[in-house]
Amino acid sequence: MEWNKKVAVITGAGGVLLSAYAKELASKGVKVAVLSRELKHAQHTADEIIAAGNTARAYGCDVLDKGNLIKTEEQIYKDFGQYHILINGAGGNMQNASTTNETFATNDLDDPKVRSFFSLDSNEIGRVFSVNFLGTLIVTQLFAKRMLGVKGAVIINFSSMAAQCPMTKVLGYSAAKAAIDNFTKWLAVYFAQQGVRVNAVAPGFFLTNQNKTLLTNPDGSLTERSHKIIGHTPMRRFGQVDDLFGTLSWLCDEDASGFVTGSVIAVDGGFQAYSGV
Ligand SMILES: NC(=O)c1ccc[n+]([C@@H]2O[C@H](COP(=O)([O-])OP(=O)(O)OC[C@H]3O[C@@H](n4cnc5c(N)ncnc54)[C@H](O)[C@@H]3O)[C@@H](O)[C@H]2O)c1
Repeated sequence: MEWNKKVAVITGAGGVLLSAYAKELASKGVKVAVLSRELKHAQHTADEIIAAGNTARAYGCDVLDKGNLIKTEEQIYKDFGQYHILINGAGGNMQNASTTNETFATNDLDDPKVRSFFSLDSNEIGRVFSVNFLGTLIVTQLFAKRMLGVKGAVIINFSSMAAQCPMTKVLGYSAAKAAIDNFTKWLAVYFAQQGVRVNAVAPGFFLTNQNKTLLTNPDGSLTERSHKIIGHTPMRRFGQVDDLFGTLSWLCDEDASGFVTGSVIAVDGGFQAYSGV
């Protein structure tokens, strides 16, 4: 594929995984529209790309703010012309959409320190669901229109290990990522006659901002949950950001994955394949 003829739009590109991949794509010659909720984070990624001699521009944009997204889409089209790659990376977990304990004990009901299934605030579930699922759906509605019929058009969503088998405690995030898997398949079928491929990656566990407090203690040591995760990962480590690059680039590249659509690709060190015994 002629990478230097492509333009990519990436949400969540102020965060750890997508900023790294934005830089990787730019280093191949792709022009990158770097979107992040806060402009300064997008700017930081874009500045690094530009400093490396490549092409990028930063846009501050909440993935749930339709009005701003419409303006941003128009601006990106003005700045770069036709875009071919859309990566829906914005997302993350929220503590208030999770229970305190892995399983329910009856005295949880009387303990004010415990957030049980019964005391979960449905608005908090709604918030995490919105950012992950609606943030993917709305951005796709507003950007995919210009991708219809465009050669090599591809959409990549961000799923998780929590989608196929929900993670303990994190009810809201697991449900939202399951919805992303379902949506990825639905949209792949819907756009199949338009030449737009739609796939998702499901990363295993990567130490980033969204899970920092879950995986590390304030002194930087690993939490009990981290040890549990590594024990369940046959490759016995967390992912490194560049572990994702090959899979993402393969999905972007119509010459390599032109017949791949509706797939969710796990990049997880074997986590999903391991039953635990
Ligand atoms: N880190 C992991 O282990 C892991 C595992 C599976 C899936 N993921 C997914 O990968 C993607 C990237 O996460 P990351 O690990 O780089 O985390 P991160 O927290 O570093 O980055 C997530 C980015 O999403 C942005 N974001 C959140 N809400 C937004 C909103 N409403 N509008 C615009 N931007 C918003 C954040 O500002 C942040 O820049 C996420 O979708 C995440 O759920 C991560």
